[in-house]
Amino acid sequence: MASRRLAIAATAALIGTLGTAGCSASRGDSDSTSAVAGGAAPAGAGTAQRHTGRIGAPGIGDPDFPNDGNGGYDVGHYRLKIDYTPETKHLSGVAGIEAKATQDLERFNLDLSGFTVSRVTVNGAAARFARSADELIVTPARMISDKAAFTVEVTYAGEPKPVRDSSNLGTYGFIPTSDGAFVTCEPNGARTWFPGNDHPADKARYDFEVTVPEGVTALANGEMVGSPATSAGRTTYTWRETHPMASYLATVTMGRFELREGRTAAGIKNVAAVDPRYSGSLDNLYTLSGKITDYWSTVFGPYPFSSTGGVIDDFSAGYALENQTKPMYGGFTPGDDIIAHELAHQWFGDSMSIKRWKDLWLNEGFATYAEWLWSEHKGHASAEKIFRTHYSTSADAAMWKYAPGRAKPEDLFNDSVYTRGGMALQALRERIGDTAFFKLLKTWNAEHKYGYVTTEEFIALAERISGKQLDSLFEAWLFTPRKPTTW
Ligand code: ARG
Ligand code: ZN
Repeated sequence: MASRRLAIAATAALIGTLGTAGCSASRGDSDSTSAVAGGAAPAGAGTAQRHTGRIGAPGIGDPDFPNDGNGGYDVGHYRLKIDYTPETKHLSGVAGIEAKATQDLERFNLDLSGFTVSRVTVNGAAARFARSADELIVTPARMISDKAAFTVEVTYAGEPKPVRDSSNLGTYGFIPTSDGAFVTCEPNGARTWFPGNDHPADKARYDFEVTVPEGVTALANGEMVGSPATSAGRTTYTWRETHPMASYLATVTMGRFELREGRTAAGIKNVAAVDPRYSGSLDNLYTLSGKITDYWSTVFGPYPFSSTGGVIDDFSAGYALENQTKPMYGGFTPGDDIIAHELAHQWFGDSMSIKRWKDLWLNEGFATYAEWLWSEHKGHASAEKIFRTHYSTSADAAMWKYAPGRAKPEDLFNDSVYTRGGMALQALRERIGDTAFFKLLKTWNAEHKYGYVTTEEFIALAERISGKQLDSLFEAWLFTPRKPTTW
């Protein structure tokens, strides 16, 4: 944990000097040309609805990120064809999207930042389209009826530009590196490489077809389909993720990699890949990822995906990301704690996803608590002891002023969401006892496998399983900007 915290702090310090135009601020600047006037209204503002009731909202309805995701449809499947050349940083893509309308749609939005879009079709017919900030606004030739299935194909090209956030998010999205790209998109960087519904509240299945210069490896989520095919000096890798996945977890990380593949002791496929600079870390990454995945399967329930593993690339992101099936470590050798953290996210965040960013502690508090459980399992400091150490910090410490149960959009990955979120779970464990607590962790996973979760649902389940009234505990630990004194 210490290594991640330090790394994040260092990144924040580094980017703190870059000015104030953060990504959310610029995304909010929608232009007001007539082509987009309705579509540029925040979700729920009702502007679009007043016009026709047939215009998909430009946001999915997360009040903290009003332009993230889109309204009016639900994506089931992405087919992403990406061709990328590291030397020129040129990306050309064809994104196929299968979706279902949730209202009549004369027009709808996709999230896409940058690129030149050359063609959009809906159900095979050319559609009109316009751009506004990070929105691609599509007007199909024929209206799509509520509940109808439809397909969209977007052809686009250009130089991908990652998001460089000046507050605490650092650089994320499609990040070009000297030998490829490091692709880590939390919270909303999927739009930097493909058009889609870029919010965790719309998970989908993914097929990837990634073409790169021969010698470059492309790693995406799920499993490789067939073998890489090379012709005329370019190699195409096909990957498929068959389980629902949030857009920020999708990756097509590319570069020169050393790979190790096999199975964990319990038989789960395990793939580790490292940039040659991290050769010395390959075996440890592979072995530890396998052991931890197997251990979490006994604590949280069966591993939800088809393979586990991890990737170390040479971009110094200052953070790791729990990309589904393939956690990514940005420019450092991860230790036990951070591997335990990213793999716990496969259950907390990936299999079970948040509908609103304010509930981020359901990802980060649980993954942080998992670091403490791993320490306890290894016979090092117990979760209780780690809790006590954090609890001993002065009541003036920043963590106590930030209520972790309501993550702030301008400071999403605050230490409180991680550490105080994890502490809330230790407080709960002490209150309801180990038997109920560990039953709760498994039941929570079983009931929401591949689905969506909210904090209210977690509190309700904790009360149901323990038979205890827990309002005041959660109020104190999650929702009060003050150091809790009882639990
Ligand atoms: N979810 C990641 C983790 O806890 C952190 C991602 C941070 N993202 C960012 N853009 N800084 O390991
Ligand atoms: Zn995390």
